[in-house]
Amino acid sequence: PAKPIQIKMVLLGESAVGKSSLVLRFVNDEFQDNKEPTIGAAFLTQKVRLDDAMLKLEIWDTAGQERFHSLAPMYYRNAQAAVVVYDITRASSLDKAKAWVKELQRQANTNIVIALVGNKLDLVAEEGVEPAAAAAAADEASGGEAEAETVAEAPEGRARQVQAEVARAYAEEQGLLFLETSAKTGQGVVETFTEVAKKLDLA
Ligand code: GTP
Ligand code: MG
Repeated sequence: PAKPIQIKMVLLGESAVGKSSLVLRFVNDEFQDNKEPTIGAAFLTQKVRLDDAMLKLEIWDTAGQERFHSLAPMYYRNAQAAVVVYDITRASSLDKAKAWVKELQRQANTNIVIALVGNKLDLVAEEGVEPAAAAAAADEASGGEAEAETVAEAPEGRARQVQAEVARAYAEEQGLLFLETSAKTGQGVVETFTEVAKKLDLA
């Protein structure tokens, strides 16, 4: 079998959005509820099989805390792919993601493949159901005594702050891949890394 093609990939995004959790899910198929913040950066590898090639992703999982920002160029320099992560329950984390995209567009490889990823999808209840419809359904189910405002809330009492359509529109405008994920359930995680791999120019 041919030697796998090595791909340098970097994860960027605000602290606690779930970068390390996404990598842990992808590489080990595990999740930790109280994962400690990354110090500096972590390095992991994982192979991805495409139709006609085997890739070895060399993943730099950077630290999102502001005090580590100045280290980031070491990790995105020469990277062929970047996954920029935000937390769909924290609007400010999308602003931070946009700032990372801008920095990558200015400083990274011109042909870098960038994916924008909205993580923590599991915290948002009733995906695909209009809050009003969910409220009506719950109201009916409970014999009319449910309180509407509790229905659209997530299991941990957190609600979506970034609509997928808003983030997708931004991603399309900037030429980025866009996916929503949950490192906790695994939803969208393999797809994220596979979609990025498919978009690489391997010539
Ligand atoms: P830094 O290393 O500081 O940049 O943070 P990070 O982006 O690597 O975040 P990390 O993966 O450490 O996750 C932060 C917290 O969010 C941890 O307590 C995780 O368990 C939790 N978390 C991460 N992903 C998810 C997810 O998809 N769903 C839920 N519910 N929690 C998540
Ligand atoms: Mg981390």
